[in-house]
Amino acid sequence: MSHRLCIHVPQCGGCTLQQTPYEQQLLLKQAEIEKIFSPLAARPIIPCQDPWAYRNKMEFSFSQNKAGDRFLGLILRRSRGKVFNLEECLISPPWMAETLQRARAWWESTSLRAFNFRNGEGTLRTLTLREGRRTGDRLAMLTVSGDPRFALIRAQLSGFVQALNDPKMSIFLRIQQAVAGSPTQFFEMHLSGPDHICEELHLQGRTLTFKISPTSFFQPNTLQAEVLYNTALEIAQMTPRSTVYDLYCGTATLGMAFALKAQKVIAIELNPHAVFDAKVNAEVNQINNIDIQCGDVGKVLSEASLLNPDLAIVDPPRPGLDTLALEALKRLQPRQILYVSCNPVTQAQNIAQLPEYKIVQIQPVDQFPHTPHIENIVLLERGF
Ligand SMILES: C[S@@+](CC[C@H](N)C(=O)[O-])C[C@H]1O[C@@H](n2cnc3c(N)ncnc32)[C@H](O)[C@@H]1O
Repeated sequence: MSHRLCIHVPQCGGCTLQQTPYEQQLLLKQAEIEKIFSPLAARPIIPCQDPWAYRNKMEFSFSQNKAGDRFLGLILRRSRGKVFNLEECLISPPWMAETLQRARAWWESTSLRAFNFRNGEGTLRTLTLREGRRTGDRLAMLTVSGDPRFALIRAQLSGFVQALNDPKMSIFLRIQQAVAGSPTQFFEMHLSGPDHICEELHLQGRTLTFKISPTSFFQPNTLQAEVLYNTALEIAQMTPRSTVYDLYCGTATLGMAFALKAQKVIAIELNPHAVFDAKVNAEVNQINNIDIQCGDVGKVLSEASLLNPDLAIVDPPRPGLDTLALEALKRLQPRQILYVSCNPVTQAQNIAQLPEYKIVQIQPVDQFPHTPHIENIVLLERGF
């Protein structure tokens, strides 16, 4: 599996493992999981079939130094946030680096400044690019400061849309409103193209379609997400009578995969855009045995009437489950818990706080080749 290395290796803070042969990367990740869950053994990590150009989402940063030089790209390794001008990225599809060059040319044609974290001045924060890997849909979202002193004017916005030069691309502006003492707020404005992208997943012999809004979570490696979900289904061994909770469901991709095999799925998600997408997705895919609820997992579960489901799938963000969610999960008393995580350290800490459950299987899946990140599935069973 030889491939040329990216021109930004080794200074890029993203692919810190790119110089390590892929087989070796897998061994390192396996060893890391074995260390975290010691003395238990894990099943061999499932490799990514094609470890290049796999990402369907990238977030690039705008930055300027004291001399005013402009940078648009990723964060330099061990630099505390210094951005370098990215020209290529071999873990994302080539159109993303090309679009980045167009956005950079647009920036050069304006007097706009990059947002400065130290003094809160400046406009441009990040550029997010996403695609539907199986559909070819593309999305760009420009995130800017919400400080009215640095607001974009209409001509600058239309210049940005023109510079990207793709009438089929979904283009959004996102305003990031940070007010001291209150939670940061985000407001999205649709600028051009369709107001969402679509992705397809091949699961259990079916092709499921997913609408994805700009801020909804979707697994960043589409093809390997299919492997992750099919593996999760295999490990959990569903029956047609099973009742399942899909907690932290995003656009309910996992929940819908499980709904194909279970009697009933109840999915919970905090982001209202993702919940809206999930409901549309259930309808489009004609999946009628899933109920999608909006709210914080801990709070919604505290009011749940269904106790003792067969399975609770949890797939929280990197910090893991908070105290409220852990307590609510214990009260729910699922027979099995399938804990999917992109942070095995918080995953193991949470599992240690569930003494009524025993680990019956550990299955890492490589979702993020060339980076140190590890996706891991753990199956827990109650009553030991
Ligand atoms: C790692 S993603 C998992 C998504 C989904 N399982 C999938 O595979 O696409 C975590 C999700 O949890 C949601 N989330 C974060 N905090 C939450 C909370 N307190 N309650 C409910 N959902 C939350 C995020 O919006 C995100 O969609």
